[in-house]
Amino acid sequence: MSGTAVLPGDVARRVIDPHAYAQWDGLLDTFDAIRAETPVAKVQPDTPGLFEPFWLVTSYDDVMRISKDNATFLNNPRPVVFSFNQAIEFSRAATGSNMLVDSLVVFDAPIHPKYRKLTQEWFMPRNLAQLEDELRALAARTVDRMLEQGPEVDFVKEVSGPYPLRVVMQILGVPPADEFRMQMLTQQLFGGQDKDLSGSGMENMTPEQVVQIVAGAVQTFEDYFAALAEDRRRNPTDDVASVIANALVDGQPLPPRDMAGYYIIVATAGHDTTSASTAGAMQALARDPGQYARVRADGSLLPGIVEEAIRWTSPVQHFMRTAAEDVEIGGQHVKKGDWLMINYVAANHDPAQFPDPRRFDAARSPNRHLAFGAGAHQCLGLHLARLEMRILFEAILDRVAAVEPAGEAKRASSTFVGGLKTLPLKFTPA
Ligand code: HEM
Repeated sequence: MSGTAVLPGDVARRVIDPHAYAQWDGLLDTFDAIRAETPVAKVQPDTPGLFEPFWLVTSYDDVMRISKDNATFLNNPRPVVFSFNQAIEFSRAATGSNMLVDSLVVFDAPIHPKYRKLTQEWFMPRNLAQLEDELRALAARTVDRMLEQGPEVDFVKEVSGPYPLRVVMQILGVPPADEFRMQMLTQQLFGGQDKDLSGSGMENMTPEQVVQIVAGAVQTFEDYFAALAEDRRRNPTDDVASVIANALVDGQPLPPRDMAGYYIIVATAGHDTTSASTAGAMQALARDPGQYARVRADGSLLPGIVEEAIRWTSPVQHFMRTAAEDVEIGGQHVKKGDWLMINYVAANHDPAQFPDPRRFDAARSPNRHLAFGAGAHQCLGLHLARLEMRILFEAILDRVAAVEPAGEAKRASSTFVGGLKTLPLKFTPA
């Protein structure tokens, strides 16, 4: 390799511009072009100080290698792109940490495995089986409501949004009355780059103002979950909220900030992600009536729909890692302390791993996608996400004979968690 591969300014801007993520085909074109030339390439700001330079990693093999090598590629101190240096400074001043929330995704070994172990068993299929009946009832109610409102509905607003939100709230013991607040708070944390989702016009604010809003959302979450934990210590149940509230690490309860971070990661990680994958699959099937009819006729394709939905949408679009030592990757010399973006959208559309990657194919096999990540931080909720999606698709395929697009679908403007924010569909009941 001769010299460092640096992306030209206009391409680099697209990589960190939330609006570029609202234009899916254009985004995939950008990643395809970058991957073909420079699967590991430097992204530098053309306005000095706007963000720290980082390495963009777009090939499947390199994203897999980095994800699995948790000793060389650390999550701490900056696991996601905070585009603005000011944001990090604000956070340091407010909390003493680079991040406003310290949670599983911020920790590395030796703390990370200890914290992860606390809830790992709870999220395994054997334990989740106890939720199945409840999930079936919730899916049935959701589809009932959708069909009552039909034949045309915004699938995101009526189905793919509320269903996983209720699931996550249920496992955390948050009553339906508080759900809307939780959703607003999540969107202020994750959707702050999209004016429709943040509900606060953050688009036009300065970085400091955005961070203040996010910090406010974090504080509200912290207060809410401190009260919830207190309740679960007095009256433990079999929900995950009780596991966290009563957990001991090295014989000690979690410090309040870490406990809040644990609740916040579970509360926020599980709904917009699952919603985006569910909506993406319905969009693909609505555009392809033949495939919808095939999956209706053949129940064995159900797990394939779920897996392909998650690959095809890759709702967690990136995470960041920091190199613990000098390392060669993708022909580039990465130095100790360098920052890397592992881009799941790009990796999951790498044609070297997925033939015809833009095609939604419920029968795709193998489908070893990276949408849940890999290695020590691989998604803790992946079995839950698969289970709830499978149960919802079962209900839809059973009750809906045909589905077609009924207007323009729109994607969120967000570099981190992204996906459809509206999806008008027309349903023909079975
Ligand atoms: C971590 C994706 C649903 C909880 C992650 C990561 C990804 C991801 C990419 C980081 C992996 C890595 O760094 O290697 C997704 C997708 C979902 C989904 C695509 C839905 C389709 C859920 C659900 C929950 C959840 C339903 C729980 C209710 C978590 C937690 C982590 C995590 C707690 C942090 C794990 C750690 O750092 O050890 N997820 N997720 N996720 N996810 Fe998910």
